[in-house]
This record gives sequence, structure tokens and C-alpha cells, in this order.
Amino acid sequence: MIKSLSYVGISSPAASEWRRFAPEILGLQDVSDPSEEVTRLRMDDAPWRIAVHVGKTNALEYVGWDVGDHDGFEAVASALVDSGVDLHAADAALADERGVSALGWFRDPAGFRHEISFARRQADTPFESPHAVKFVTGDNGLGHLVFMVPDMQAVSDFFLKVLGFRHSDDVEAGARIRFMHCNPRHHTLALAQVPGHRGMHHMMLEADSLDTVGRAYDRALAANEPMAMSLGRHANDLMTSFYVRTPSGFEIEFGSGGRLMDMQAGEPVGQYSETSIWGHRPPEEPLVPGMLEPISSA
Ligand SMILES: [Fe+2]
Repeated sequence: MIKSLSYVGISSPAASEWRRFAPEILGLQDVSDPSEEVTRLRMDDAPWRIAVHVGKTNALEYVGWDVGDHDGFEAVASALVDSGVDLHAADAALADERGVSALGWFRDPAGFRHEISFARRQADTPFESPHAVKFVTGDNGLGHLVFMVPDMQAVSDFFLKVLGFRHSDDVEAGARIRFMHCNPRHHTLALAQVPGHRGMHHMMLEADSLDTVGRAYDRALAANEPMAMSLGRHANDLMTSFYVRTPSGFEIEFGSGGRLMDMQAGEPVGQYSETSIWGHRPPEEPLVPGMLEPISSA
């Protein structure tokens, strides 16, 4: 089944601004082809992990999942078919663009496009962060995503019951947020309900030390980047992080020290009544989520 979050593609009118923001603030490596409009960003041995395509609005375009091997691909494919979801085969040109040999895609109940693949090729050259950031990726994937969806139960059922994700916990602090894992990383996907809309609230990138997080925080403050939440530590996944607004209206959570789940034990589903142990304070004028798109209700 699904092993880890492999890559993410978004579209944005501000795609080119990422070529400054991502290296300068986050320490990602810009590996964009100057002759192409798409901005591609590296954080490890993968050829790229984040692609920002030029688009009229800010939108999440695709989420790439690693299914481990051919058997994993078949397992996801049959789970989708059994639940009545169409799995489409992508052509060879698209698979090559994503850096994989076989690629399938489908849509979740909120309409987001997901892609499955395995054996993604590695880059020819070592990853070089302009700020010497070491990202925590590997078998636990590139980080985590938090979606805003019109019907949390439907999307949650899809990931837990069809795609085999495990329920980590819920945080009920005003609104409910549901956290799910597909490997030991505490969550790779979380869901918040926003009626009539869908979007990505944030993407989390994990660095290997608190000092690396602190230095990125300093860079974001010095560059006057809009800060969605100050440095703080989450109650459930224990991540120490800050949230900076990207040029595309969603947030990057930049953190370290995230908790790992025991995949063998079948840990009980936790319940939390607060999001953070300390910090994570919004600015005086909280930022309005900028990547929300209205969708017609089914
Ligand atoms: Fe997060």
C-alpha cells in the first residue's frame, strides 16, 4: 500500500517567486531548468520533491505517493477498484517528468489528484542546501500535508478504509483536525473541515535539528516574510516549528523533533484538546487561508 509522500505539485501565479523564497528562507535547492516555467525544488536525493507550476490561481495540483514496489501498486489499484474509484494510467511522458517508471492517478472524495508510483529515480548529483539544511525524509517521506476539505468524514474514510492509512489522533480545539499516518512519521496527512471549500493549509518540512529550525526562523523574520504562526511545539506530534506564508498563499511548517509512531503496536487513537504546548501564536491580524478554492457541493 502507500509507503510515503514522494512529491507535491502546486500551481501558482507566483511560481517564479519560489526561486528566491525556497532557497533563501527554507534552504531548499532550486533545480529548475531555466528554460522551463516550472520551479523544481530538491531536499534530498530525489530529483525534486516540490514542483510549482505557473497557474492563474494558487492550487494543489497533485500529490505523489510512493507505494514501495509493483505489489504495492497492485494493492492500491485493487483497493481503489473495490471501492469504485477509477485509477487512471498516466502516459510515459508524464511518468518520465515525475521521475518514475509507472504512474497511476485518481481523485479523492474532495477532488484532489493523487498519483502512485514506485522506484523513483535518484538525482545524479548530491543534494546541496544553500543553508546547509539537512531534511528528515527517507522512508518516512518528504513531510506532511494538511488539507482543508468540505466533508472530513468522507475523505478520512477514504484514506483510512481504502488506502490503509492509520488514524494517529484528533485535535479538537474549536474545530476538529484528524491526523493519519502511513509510516512511522506521526502524520503524513491531516484533515480539517471547511464547508464548501477545499485547499491545502500547509506542508511540513522537517529538519534534523532545532538549531536549523531556529536559523530558518531568523531568516524568515529578517526577510519580513509573513508569519502565520510563531515558533511553538505541537501537543500531538511534538514538532517544534514555525509557519511561514509561501508566495502561493499556503503555509510551510518548518520543524524538527516530530514524534514517530510504533507501526507494530497499533497505538490507541489519541484525543487532544489543544494544538500546541507552547507558542504557535498567530500574528495580530491572523492570515486568511489563501489556498482555498470554493467547490460545488455534490
Ligand atoms: Fe503540521
